[in-house]
Amino acid sequence: MRLKETAMPLFVFYVVLAAGALSQEVRATIPATHEIPMTAKKYEFNPNLITVRKGEHVKLVITATDRDHGFKLEAFKINQHLKKGEPTTVEFDAKNAGEFPFQCSVICGMGHHRMKGALVVEE
Ligand code: CUA
Repeated sequence: MRLKETAMPLFVFYVVLAAGALSQEVRATIPATHEIPMTAKKYEFNPNLITVRKGEHVKLVITATDRDHGFKLEAFKINQHLKKGEPTTVEFDAKNAGEFPFQCSVICGMGHHRMKGALVVEE
Protein backbone atom coordinates (compact mmCIF):
# COMPACT_ATOMS: atom_id res chain seq x y z
CA MET A 1 0.00 0.00 0.00
CA ARG A 2 2.80 2.38 0.84
CA LEU A 3 4.27 2.08 -2.67
CA LYS A 4 0.96 3.02 -4.26
CA GLU A 5 0.58 6.07 -2.05
CA THR A 6 3.94 7.47 -3.03
CA ALA A 7 3.73 6.49 -6.69
CA MET A 8 0.46 8.31 -7.34
CA PRO A 9 1.62 11.91 -6.77
CA LEU A 10 4.77 11.14 -8.74
CA PHE A 11 2.67 9.84 -11.62
CA VAL A 12 0.49 12.96 -11.60
CA PHE A 13 3.64 15.08 -11.58
CA TYR A 14 4.97 13.35 -14.70
CA VAL A 15 1.66 13.62 -16.53
CA VAL A 16 1.54 17.37 -15.89
CA LEU A 17 5.14 17.68 -17.01
CA ALA A 18 4.53 15.70 -20.21
CA ALA A 19 1.39 17.67 -21.06
CA GLY A 20 3.28 20.93 -20.65
CA ALA A 21 6.07 19.80 -22.95
CA LEU A 22 3.59 18.53 -25.53
CA SER A 23 1.56 21.74 -25.69
CA GLN A 24 4.77 23.70 -26.11
CA GLU A 25 5.75 21.48 -29.02
CA VAL A 26 2.33 21.81 -30.65
CA ARG A 27 2.55 25.59 -30.42
CA ALA A 28 5.96 25.54 -32.08
CA THR A 29 4.85 23.42 -35.04
CA ILE A 30 1.67 25.34 -35.93
CA PRO A 31 2.82 28.20 -38.18
CA ALA A 32 1.39 31.67 -37.68
CA THR A 33 -1.23 32.59 -40.28
CA HIS A 34 -0.68 35.84 -42.11
CA GLU A 35 -3.93 36.93 -43.75
CA ILE A 36 -3.75 39.65 -46.38
CA PRO A 37 -6.78 41.15 -48.14
CA MET A 38 -6.18 42.12 -51.78
CA THR A 39 -8.10 43.50 -54.71
CA ALA A 40 -7.65 42.88 -58.42
CA LYS A 41 -8.85 45.22 -61.14
CA LYS A 42 -7.73 46.46 -64.58
CA TYR A 43 -4.74 46.33 -64.46
CA GLU A 44 -3.39 46.04 -60.98
CA PHE A 45 -3.28 44.05 -57.80
CA ASN A 46 -3.52 46.08 -54.63
CA PRO A 47 -1.23 45.64 -52.85
CA ASN A 48 1.11 44.46 -55.59
CA LEU A 49 4.00 43.91 -53.20
CA ILE A 50 3.30 41.40 -50.46
CA THR A 51 5.82 40.89 -47.70
CA VAL A 52 5.64 37.92 -45.34
CA ARG A 53 8.07 36.10 -43.09
CA LYS A 54 9.59 32.72 -43.80
CA GLY A 55 7.67 29.98 -42.03
CA GLU A 56 4.34 31.79 -42.08
CA HIS A 57 1.17 30.26 -43.43
CA VAL A 58 -0.08 32.85 -45.92
CA LYS A 59 -3.74 33.42 -46.67
CA LEU A 60 -4.47 35.88 -49.47
CA VAL A 61 -8.09 36.91 -49.75
CA ILE A 62 -8.38 38.44 -53.20
CA THR A 63 -11.43 40.17 -54.62
CA ALA A 64 -11.68 41.03 -58.32
CA THR A 65 -13.70 44.23 -58.39
CA ASP A 66 -14.35 45.09 -62.05
CA ARG A 67 -14.37 41.75 -63.91
CA ASP A 68 -12.83 38.27 -63.65
CA HIS A 69 -9.06 38.12 -63.24
CA GLY A 70 -6.59 35.43 -62.27
CA PHE A 71 -3.83 35.00 -59.71
CA LYS A 72 -0.83 33.00 -60.79
CA LEU A 73 2.06 32.45 -58.38
CA GLU A 74 4.24 30.11 -60.37
CA ALA A 75 6.79 29.29 -57.64
CA PHE A 76 4.00 27.92 -55.44
CA LYS A 77 2.15 26.18 -58.29
CA ILE A 78 -0.85 28.42 -57.76
CA ASN A 79 -3.14 29.52 -60.56
CA GLN A 80 -6.48 30.69 -59.21
CA HIS A 81 -9.39 32.13 -61.14
CA LEU A 82 -10.82 35.21 -59.44
CA LYS A 83 -14.50 35.64 -60.02
CA LYS A 84 -15.76 39.21 -60.02
CA GLY A 85 -17.12 40.27 -56.64
CA GLU A 86 -16.30 37.01 -54.87
CA PRO A 87 -13.48 37.04 -52.32
CA THR A 88 -11.22 34.11 -53.19
CA THR A 89 -8.77 32.60 -50.72
CA VAL A 90 -5.33 31.46 -51.84
CA GLU A 91 -3.28 29.65 -49.20
CA PHE A 92 0.29 28.46 -49.05
CA ASP A 93 3.24 28.06 -46.72
CA ALA A 94 6.12 30.48 -47.17
CA LYS A 95 8.83 27.85 -46.77
CA ASN A 96 11.70 29.56 -48.57
CA ALA A 97 12.95 33.12 -48.50
CA GLY A 98 13.11 35.06 -51.76
CA GLU A 99 11.15 37.18 -54.19
CA PHE A 100 8.47 35.46 -56.24
CA PRO A 101 6.56 37.17 -59.04
CA PHE A 102 2.81 36.76 -59.50
CA GLN A 103 0.60 37.83 -62.38
CA CYS A 104 -2.90 37.86 -63.72
CA SER A 105 -3.73 34.63 -65.55
CA VAL A 106 -7.04 35.54 -67.17
CA ILE A 107 -6.98 37.66 -70.31
CA CYS A 108 -8.63 40.83 -69.08
CA GLY A 109 -7.79 43.46 -71.68
CA MET A 110 -5.01 45.45 -73.27
CA GLY A 111 -3.09 45.78 -70.00
CA HIS A 112 -3.36 42.13 -68.96
CA HIS A 113 0.37 41.46 -69.38
CA ARG A 114 1.39 44.25 -67.07
CA MET A 115 -0.98 43.18 -64.30
CA LYS A 116 1.53 41.71 -61.91
CA GLY A 117 3.28 41.95 -58.59
CA ALA A 118 5.67 40.19 -56.26
CA LEU A 119 5.67 38.19 -53.06
CA VAL A 120 8.66 38.78 -50.83
CA VAL A 121 9.42 36.15 -48.22
CA GLU A 122 11.82 37.55 -45.64
CA GLU A 123 14.26 35.34 -43.76
CU1 CUA B 1 -6.32 40.86 -65.08
CU2 CUA B 1 -5.54 39.69 -66.90
